Order: sequence, then structure tokens, then C-alpha cells
Amino acid sequence: MSLFNRLYDYFSQDLAIDLGTANTLVYAKGHGIILNEPSVVAVKKTVSGEDEVLAVGREAKFMLGRTPGSIKAIRPIKDGVIANFEITQKMLKYFIARSSTPSRRLIRPRIIICVPFGITQVEKKAVKESAYSAGAREVYLIEEPMAAAIGAGLPITEARGSMIVDIGGGTTGIAVISLNGIVHCESIKVAGDKFDEAITNFVRRQKNLLIGERTAENIKINIGTADSASKEKVMEIKGRDLMIGAPKTIKITSGQINEALTDSLNEVVNAVKLALEKTPPELAADIVDNGVILTGGGALLNNLDVLLREKTGLPVSVAESPLSCVVRGAGQVLDQLALLRELTIT
Ligand SMILES: Nc1ncnc2c1ncn2[C@@H]1O[C@H](COP(=O)(O)OP(=O)(O)OP(=O)(O)O)[C@@H](O)[C@H]1O
Ligand SMILES: [Mg+2]
Repeated sequence: MSLFNRLYDYFSQDLAIDLGTANTLVYAKGHGIILNEPSVVAVKKTVSGEDEVLAVGREAKFMLGRTPGSIKAIRPIKDGVIANFEITQKMLKYFIARSSTPSRRLIRPRIIICVPFGITQVEKKAVKESAYSAGAREVYLIEEPMAAAIGAGLPITEARGSMIVDIGGGTTGIAVISLNGIVHCESIKVAGDKFDEAITNFVRRQKNLLIGERTAENIKINIGTADSASKEKVMEIKGRDLMIGAPKTIKITSGQINEALTDSLNEVVNAVKLALEKTPPELAADIVDNGVILTGGGALLNNLDVLLREKTGLPVSVAESPLSCVVRGAGQVLDQLALLRELTIT
């Protein structure tokens, strides 16, 4: 390595970013995951009409549903793509600044950003531009299912089919991968957020109780299950009673939450089945042998692997640390320039 390259490596900080609907994770070359925060920004309108950032990440997520009129807690990424360009830019800028140490701020970072499979040129451009304006020197995009597969340790470079099902906040991506390429991909906008919505609607209809999005997520994480036969759990939840209009506490069971989630879970199951139907036979045979790997936060839903195993008849397992597979996979690509060239999309 030339002296210049060594100096360059010392001073620059290359980053891989999983800019997710629910969470943003940053991986720094040589350091691993250095940031993991909810993709939420709290802003206040100034007198001149501009959005002033009050909080980003965890602090901002806590404010969701709890803000007075002048303050808004915003999730700028929706269904895996940028819904609010300006706020995404501000959020990225903040996360990138927090990810750099003073000595490494001398050279602007080279950044890999993971994007959902099959997004439009306009959407890709929006992601790239927001990263450049947030201070990146070079920006590369790689597809999330590919990054997830690498992060989950699948043999993506071999001529052997692997299936990855990445269930995030906004999208579920189902991909069959072989020889560094995505052979087939299905993507649906049913994932963690839809599960939360289904719970909110169920509680409103069946219990006459209005709950916020954070409560719905807590219920899902604590007692949610994809298998109606799993052991019954009970949780006390608080919300606003729709009849009397006052706060109220009620009990809800995991069986009820399973019922609430049934339709959304069926959509995920059907998308997996559809992807299997469209997989070329040799690769389908590989998947029968190697099974299906689940990644993303949704993979942590209790017994989701059991449900998918029952419905597809295939071996299904949850990847290790499913929430960070995508960013760890992208981080590995950062370390392998040849792979980076092969996997980046234009
Ligand atoms: N233990 C759990 N059980 C069920 N769901 C969970 C659990 N932990 C996290 N989740 C859900 O996982 C989702 C977030 O997953 P993840 O961080 O992979 O999404 P993302 O990458 O931000 O979204 P996307 O890939 O769609 O852009 C949220 O909906 C969250 O509620
Ligand atoms: Mg994701």
C-alpha cells in the first residue's frame, strides 16, 4: 500500500449505513456497528417557517405521539424509501456527524447505503443526494436483501440458491440469491409497521380503546405471536376509552394479538410462497436443502419461523442478530473492494 493510501485509510472513515424505515444503523470500517438509533426526527417550526431539529433517534422516538402542536416527531422513511427528503437529509447529517471522530473528519467518508430491492431511479437519486449533502465523498448503493444475506452468513458467491426473508418496519423483502446476484425478489409493504397498525385497529374495534403507535409496538414485542398454539401471555395496556373518553387500563392476551396479526401474517406467507413458485427449479431444490433464513426486526416476532415452516414445509431459521444483518453485510462489503464493485447498483 502506498503512503498516500495508508494516510488516507488512517484519516478517512468509511461507513456502511442501513437507512431503515424503523432503525438506522451505521458500521464503520475497522470498528463494527457504531450507531443504532430509531429513524425518527423531532422538529419544531420556527417563526420563519423552517424546520428546526430538536431531537434525533431514540429521544425523538420517545416523543412520537406525545408532542404539542408546534413540535412534530417525524419518521422520514416510509415503506423503505425516503418520504420526506429534507428531514432524511437532516437525520443522515446528524448520524454521520455522530459517527465521525475529529481526526477522521479531515476527509469526507466513503459511504455505502442499503436500499430496498427494485426502488426507482428517482428514489435512488434521492438517497444518494441526501448522503452527498450530509457530507459523503463517494456514495455506493447496495440492495438490502443482498446485504442481509451476507450479514446472515449465506454463501452468496456460490452457485447455490439461498433464500432470505427480511422483515423490517416498512417492507418485507424475499430474495433468492445465487452467484452474487438476486435471481428473484418479491417485496411487499407489509412488515412491522403494518403489524402495529393491525394491533391498533384490533384494540380499537374489539376493546373500544385507542392506543398510540408506541404502545402497539410494545404489545407486539411483548406478547405478539405468529402461532395461535403458543403459550398464552397476558399484558396490561393503557389507552383512551372511546366510550367514556378517559384513560383506561385493560388486559389483552397473546391469542388476541395473534388474531389481530393473522391477515398481515398471511400476506407475508403468501409472498414467500409466490417467491418459491417463481424460483428456477435447481435453485428451488437448493432452498429445500438449505432452508430459508429470516432477518430484520420482524424475524423476532415470536414463532414466525414456526408459522413459515408449517406453511411452506421448508426448514426456516432466524439469523443471528437479525436486526443488524443488513448493516453487518454492508460492512463486510466495505472491506472487500472487489465485492463492492460487483454489488453496487447504478
Ligand atoms: N422482538 C420483536 N418482536 C417483533 N417485532 C420486533 C421485535 N423487535 C423489533 N421488532 C420490529 O422490527 C421492526 C424493525 O425492524 P428493522 O430495524 O429490521 O426495520 P428497518 O430496517 O428499519 O425497516 P425496513 O427494512 O422496512 O426499511 C419494527 O417494526 C419493530 O417493531
Ligand atoms: Mg431493513
